[in-house]
Amino acid sequence: MDIKYIEKNRIFVIETPDTSYCIAAFDEEGFPCHMYYGDKISTSDLTYVLKMLEPGYTASSNMRDRSSFLDRFPFEYSTNNVGDYRKSSIEITDKNGHSGVNLCYESHKIFKGKKGLQGLPATFGNESDSMTLEITLADKVIGLKAVLSYSIFEGLDAIARSVRLINSSDEPIRIDSVMSMTMDMDNDGYKLLTLPGSWGRERAMDFREIGFGDTSVESFRGESSHQFQPFMALVQNGDSQEQGKVYGFSFVYSGNFEAGVCRSQFDSLRPYMGICRKNFSWKLLGGEEFQAPEVIMTYSSEGLGKMTRTFHDLYRNHLIRSPYKDRERPILINNWEATYFDFDSDKLIAIAKEAKKCGIEMLVMDDGWFGERNDDNSSLGDWYVNENKLKGGLKKLVDEVNSIGLKFGIWMEPEMISPVSKLYEEHPDWAIQIPGREPCRSRNQFVLDLTRKEVFDYVYGRIKDVLSSANIEYLKWDMNRQLCDLGSPGLESDRQGELSHRYVLAVYALMEKLVSDFPNLLLENCSGGGARFDAGMLYYSPQIWCSDDTDAIERLKIQEGTSLIFPLSTMGAHVSDCPNHMVGRTTPFKTRGDVALAGTFGYELDITRISEDDRAEIPHQVETYHKYNELVRSGDYYRIASYQRNREYDAYAVISRDKTRALITYVQVIAGPNAKKRIIKVNGLDDQKAYRIDGTDKVILGSTIRNVGLQIQNAGGDFRSELIYLVSVEK
Ligand code: GLA
Repeated sequence: MDIKYIEKNRIFVIETPDTSYCIAAFDEEGFPCHMYYGDKISTSDLTYVLKMLEPGYTASSNMRDRSSFLDRFPFEYSTNNVGDYRKSSIEITDKNGHSGVNLCYESHKIFKGKKGLQGLPATFGNESDSMTLEITLADKVIGLKAVLSYSIFEGLDAIARSVRLINSSDEPIRIDSVMSMTMDMDNDGYKLLTLPGSWGRERAMDFREIGFGDTSVESFRGESSHQFQPFMALVQNGDSQEQGKVYGFSFVYSGNFEAGVCRSQFDSLRPYMGICRKNFSWKLLGGEEFQAPEVIMTYSSEGLGKMTRTFHDLYRNHLIRSPYKDRERPILINNWEATYFDFDSDKLIAIAKEAKKCGIEMLVMDDGWFGERNDDNSSLGDWYVNENKLKGGLKKLVDEVNSIGLKFGIWMEPEMISPVSKLYEEHPDWAIQIPGREPCRSRNQFVLDLTRKEVFDYVYGRIKDVLSSANIEYLKWDMNRQLCDLGSPGLESDRQGELSHRYVLAVYALMEKLVSDFPNLLLENCSGGGARFDAGMLYYSPQIWCSDDTDAIERLKIQEGTSLIFPLSTMGAHVSDCPNHMVGRTTPFKTRGDVALAGTFGYELDITRISEDDRAEIPHQVETYHKYNELVRSGDYYRIASYQRNREYDAYAVISRDKTRALITYVQVIAGPNAKKRIIKVNGLDDQKAYRIDGTDKVILGSTIRNVGLQIQNAGGDFRSELIYLVSVEK
């Protein structure tokens, strides 16, 4: 890990274990030049590399053809409306209504450690495990500065990149868009990988050709969304886990975003990622700063597998702060699919008693315990216990659950207000809305305008009161609708475009207060399933509910897409009842358990009503969880086969860092008649080590498992799963 400045040519070199990232301040004007990102190269060749990038003439020596220069120059952070016609890194409007901006090198700093980002989640590092380069660019005409920040971390091929804008003039500047990351690079036959989806089927893998012009994804729904994940990768070899170049980008942000790649007339690519320009503007007064969120970039020359492992390591060690991140989480049982809104304390106690017998460790009471909420039409905002359901109140219930021997967790949806609620009767204006326009309902609810202090204080006050009223050790923080009708009386007319971003900042501020006031609370984020499963949220909660679809087979796809970026320890996954409530499919109880083991693990069913056989399996599943969870949480993830693509079976391995243990999960989705042998080849083991398959006396060498593979029975019915545990033994 190192960051160097080569003064002669004003070149910056950022070095991670296997990659180099090079930037130059080019020409007399100091255009920020993206020189190179990829496998490590020698710094002795950099003058040559820089020469290669010159478009034939420089800007200052040929003013006649300045646009030809600007329109093909490989920018690290590009201009707007001064001669480069590609998608801009930044768009502004100055006091005169003009949009020209040209940011060039002014100064730089290299230091040990990493700074936090004002008001935003971000990766962290200390002076011994991280380093940062800050390059300040300036547009002298309008007095705007941009501080480009790059941080690297010991042992990791990742760069955390962000941009801070400073208005150094005396006049306001309107920011119309600000990308957190752009760079210009050669097109080496890349495809664009993104993770589109919907409610109940989040984060499916989609590979696309990159055509000329713009290829992109975006969310302007006020959250990162079910529909698109703030992630993209440029991949050379399709879904290969071991081969080909991959550039992965993940946004540490939970609101509107855009991510894409612009292919130019000269076949160069400009990947970009930042806050979505739609519905965004920000008025920056003289002397003020605007911090754009962070993008994590990683380059792998070994396919998607290495990209995944880099993201996992970075997020596990430099993003998630919760004290639970390295701990085994209590196995919980959640009553949502068990009862929906139809429960009372007797029912919950009955579930808790049965759960305790099976080894389950926490009861989570989901939606429906407050106000008059007996369906999803009312009461959001009225965070007061419904004593018709919880007789004697919340504390009585929690004490009783605790005395049974279970911890207690609760569900809240703090950001919302139902039109049928006491809160709405008192404060109809607290809902986000445009005056004179009937706001659009979704699940019959509105979004609270958290950017207003009185709303923020009310919401936090209610959360704090509820959590302080009993021994509550877990909170499921839900968010069940997306934003529209953007309007806030708290903002002046020329600041209404700031609402979406200000909303996200307010959510972050709420969560920050929560985790500092309740440091031992286990927080699980959720948004109609996994609509806010993003790196921003992981800064506050170590786990996020992955999807409302709990069907084991659907989960294979959802969990594959999610684990492409996020560690298994973050994926909320539960065993639910069958026929599955969303798809009506019946799968074996064992398969449901094996699939949920790849996440946080828990139950979401009425344990008092499932079959004896299923119930009898729970203690065994609980034992399996305790046996493997440390490995699942901390190990290296290797994808072996994808049901999403082969339509027949799924397989993945988690291998301990010291390569002495590996857990392989295999799910045969569809059994075939007279089918060929099923062989799975596992990468990532130690070639020289011998591994015993747990429960057998079979011992196989790592290199044999990698090259010849393990044979799996290709029969025995649909939806059958197997866990194969390998333990290294002396040869
Ligand atoms: C969302 C969540 C579910 C459940 C319901 C309650 O859909 O994803 O798990 O909590 O809300 O209304």
